[in-house]
This record gives sequence, structure tokens and C-alpha cells, in this order.
Amino acid sequence: MSDTGIRVAVVGGGSSYTPELVDGLLSHVDIPLERITLLDIPEGRDKQDTVVQLARRMARRAGRAVAIEATLDREQALSGADFVCAQYRVGGLAARVRDEAIPLAHGRIGQETVGAGGFLNALRTVPVAIGLGRDVERLCPDAWILNFTNPSGLVTEAVLRHAWPRTIGLCNVPMVMERTIAERLSAPPGSLRLSMVGLNHLSIVRAIEFQGQDILAPVVEAFAAGGRWPDGPAMSRADQEFLQALGALPNSYLRYYWLPDRMLAEEQRRMEQGRGTRAEEVLRIEAELFARYRDPDLSEKPPELSLRGGALYSEVAVDVLEAVALDRPREMVVNVQNQNAVAELPANASIEVSSIVDGRGARALAQDPLPLGFSGLVRQIKAYEQLAIEAAVTRDRGRALEALTLNPLVGDIEAAAAILSDAWPA
Ligand code: G6P
Repeated sequence: MSDTGIRVAVVGGGSSYTPELVDGLLSHVDIPLERITLLDIPEGRDKQDTVVQLARRMARRAGRAVAIEATLDREQALSGADFVCAQYRVGGLAARVRDEAIPLAHGRIGQETVGAGGFLNALRTVPVAIGLGRDVERLCPDAWILNFTNPSGLVTEAVLRHAWPRTIGLCNVPMVMERTIAERLSAPPGSLRLSMVGLNHLSIVRAIEFQGQDILAPVVEAFAAGGRWPDGPAMSRADQEFLQALGALPNSYLRYYWLPDRMLAEEQRRMEQGRGTRAEEVLRIEAELFARYRDPDLSEKPPELSLRGGALYSEVAVDVLEAVALDRPREMVVNVQNQNAVAELPANASIEVSSIVDGRGARALAQDPLPLGFSGLVRQIKAYEQLAIEAAVTRDRGRALEALTLNPLVGDIEAAAAILSDAWPA
């Protein structure tokens, strides 16, 4: 940290999520911010120009004397940074449209973080993430990377193993789960302590401490009896029975593995109705969001931002930043290197787990053995992720085919080969 204050570089500065992050940084008055530098590529210049103007209006409204800059020059953005918030999307939303559409054309789930869509995203993103990690080492060797770029857990592992150890992977889902459960119990925010373990977009809540008691079992019962998954969709009788047997609360993305036929049917229905993939929907939301951002009278993040999926991203990022920068230890669910916290997984694997975050970074809390059924899935997906990282680093098509076949949302050599043939040149 410089003597004058904290310098934050935001990679993917032209993202529609940036006002969310800026809002979080500005509202945490304890954080002595000196500057926020947005960085994007030339294709993102217009969006970044719009976002930087809005961010400056937000800083004025908040009465914060923070320099807010924008650049297309990586060296300039990273030099002297204390924190690098990585929230870029390699290939932009156009690439996400393909990631989601190609698997669907082969009868497989098309999603930006899991299954074949997440895999195609990872192949493109891992080399860029490693390059960024090496530039951080060269240009700002005291900095921490806070990675939100998807697939967040896999990308975090690639950076930790191949480039930059001062990296912490973030996801908004654990905090969303905590708030949802608190709301359901009418408990004040911050009064619950959730113990979570697994991988990114593949984690479970295995204990909920409230006023000194573990209330997980009655909370699971309440969701099962209410007939709705914690994030809202209706449960069938079989879903209810399954949740009761699991005895834990699952990350909503686990439905892709446990209810793949239903999830695929939903995606196919969207296509039949002419709504296109989620990425195409996001393109429409973004067009409206940027029209709002360009309004010179707008000086706060607009409510329309909640139509995007990243709710609470800024709170997670700013809480981690504050704990590290001010060395204020706190327990949070983040993506870190396993070391020996989860005995069933390799020591070099990234895991999403309750951790202690402080001035030395984030360290996973030791975990009891995983429930048997969950452990099987977690180990398979971690093996897939490690093969996918290897495929992205070596550009070995055979390794890519092996990884994609191992992913249970593909699970077939011919389907994996067909998806790769469509996607490999890009
Ligand atoms: C959730 C996930 C994020 C993801 C976002 C997508 O919040 O945890 O990893 O980036 O949804 O939202 P979008 O609006 O882009 O579909």
C-alpha cells in the first residue's frame, strides 16, 4: 500500500458491473482509497469511457476525493496497484453467446461456467489469466489479484499454480445464500455464520451457526417443506426427498449436475420461445444499462443493474479488500488453494471454502470429511478442471477431449469431439 492510500486496478473496466464495484469501494469509508484505474482493451473503449464518467459522478456524489482514471495501457494501469480486480471476459459477450449455443446444438447444457460452455470459456480465459498474473508480478509485485473472472474457481487455480500466488478467487453465490437464509429466518444480516465447502459453483452449506447453535437441520427441513430451492424454483417430491437425504444446502449451480434433463429442457425452451441464450438476454440488458449509464444526471448505480446475475459481487470484493488491506481478520467463503483443508482433494486444487482472510491473504479452514455422494462429484469435477487447465496451457487437443469427456454434463467422447470441432478454431 502506498503512503497516500490504496490503488485499485480494475481489469475489464468497461464491464457493466463496474459501477457496482465502484459503489462498494466508495461506500466503505474505512478504506483509504487513492485511485481506481479502469483498464480495458481497444474494443471496450466506448463502454469504459461511459463507465469512467459515471464512476466520477458517483465519487462526486459520495464526496470522496478519489482519482478515477481509465486507460487501455496495461502497464500504466498495473504499475503501483495494490489490488487488481479481475472481471474481464475474454472475447466479450459474443464469445459467451457461442459458449452457450455450441453445446446446446449438440444436445448439451450451454452455460458460461459449468459443462461444455464453462470449458470453452476456460480454454480462452486461462492463458489470459496467466499472462495477467505474470504482469502483476512484474509491475506491481505487492499486489493481490481478486479474481471474479469466470469460471472463477478454475481460473483462480490456473493463476495460483502458474503465475501469481497472491490471488483470491471470488464468487457472489455464498453471500447471496447467506442473505437468503437470513431473510428466510428474519435474522439480521451478518448474524449467521455459514460453513461452506466444495468448489466454485459446486459448494454446499454444511453448518449454520446462529446464536451459538447449529440450525442447519431445521433450515434444510424448512426449505424442503416449503417446496422451493433456496434460490426460488419449485421442487418436485423427489427433489425434496433428495435435499433431506443430503442434509445440506446446495449452491444453485448444483442443479446442473443433479437435474441436468430439467436444466437442459429449460434452456431449449428459451431457444424455442425466441429468447435465445442467457448471453443474448444479457446483451439486451446491457444495451439498456449503458443507455442509463450515459445519462449525465445519473450519479449512482441504477436499479436496472439488478437484472444482471452478479448481485453482491461488490460487497464480497470490498470485504476481502478491506480484510487484506487493513489486516482486519474475518471469516469469508472464497476460493483458495486447498493445501490440506479437504483431505479428498489434491493440495494444489483451488476450493471454495470458509476461510480466514487477513493481511496475509486467505487460508482455508480445516474441513471434516465430505459427505460421500458429494465427494464423488467434487473429485470428478476437480479432475476435469485440472485437465482443462492443462489443455488450456499446453493447447493439446487430446487433453481437451479427455477433460470435456470427463465432465458429467458432456460425458461422451463423440459429443465432446463434436463440440470441440465447432469451437476449437476460436
Ligand atoms: C452469478 C454467478 C456469476 C455470474 C453471474 C452471471 O452471479 O455467480 O459467476 O457471472 O451470475 O450473471 P449474468 O447476468 O451475466 O447472467
